Amino acid sequence: MSQTIAENIRSRRTIHNFIPDRVPPRELILEALELANWAPNHHLTEPWRYYLLGPETKEKLCRLNADLLRAVRGDKAADLKLQRWLEIPGWLIQTCMVSANAVRMDEDYAACCCAAQNLLLYLWSQGVGCKWTTGELSRHEELYRILKLDPLQERVTGLFWYGYAAEISVTARKPLAEKLMELP
Ligand SMILES: Cc1cc2nc3c(=O)[nH]c(=O)nc-3n(C[C@H](O)[C@H](O)[C@H](O)COP(=O)(O)O)c2cc1C
Repeated sequence: MSQTIAENIRSRRTIHNFIPDRVPPRELILEALELANWAPNHHLTEPWRYYLLGPETKEKLCRLNADLLRAVRGDKAADLKLQRWLEIPGWLIQTCMVSANAVRMDEDYAACCCAAQNLLLYLWSQGVGCKWTTGELSRHEELYRILKLDPLQERVTGLFWYGYAAEISVTARKPLAEKLMELP
């Protein structure tokens, strides 16, 4: 039975460890992206773009990340990271179309985040976990080169890993009362 929206929102967690080599079906990812496409967006700019990575591109990014790490933490750490990253089953990148107008850029980024949440929640409802990452790699110029992205046209808003969770971590939130101000 499908979860209620409230259960789905509350139970979703960022997945840090996936079952290796079990890639969710492409149709499910396309369905999630189609739902992401319904996110609110001001002026109907629909600023999101997606790149679904195949094994060749995924390996290039894993190697790039390992090389970045090698420079600071040495071979052993880099090789371990490379092995770990190569086992991550699903790779998806979301970008936001760049606008010269700062207000529009903020609104478009916000819309991309809404789309991302649609994506995460739908996949979660179907038993697929994700991790939204914005580490150094996602901003690196070499990543833009590998993806053939022009940074003047598109900005990477997230690298999303997806797959079936090997474990589900526990996180908490501070009470809403600490964050809610009610005005007269
Ligand atoms: C814009 C954005 C960027 C994130 N980048 C990272 C990241 O680079 N590395 C990471 O481990 N988690 C990242 N996360 C996931 C958060 O760490 C995670 O949502 C937070 O710890 C709460 O855990 P939960 O999603 O399981 O509730 C990111 C989340 C968002 C919204």
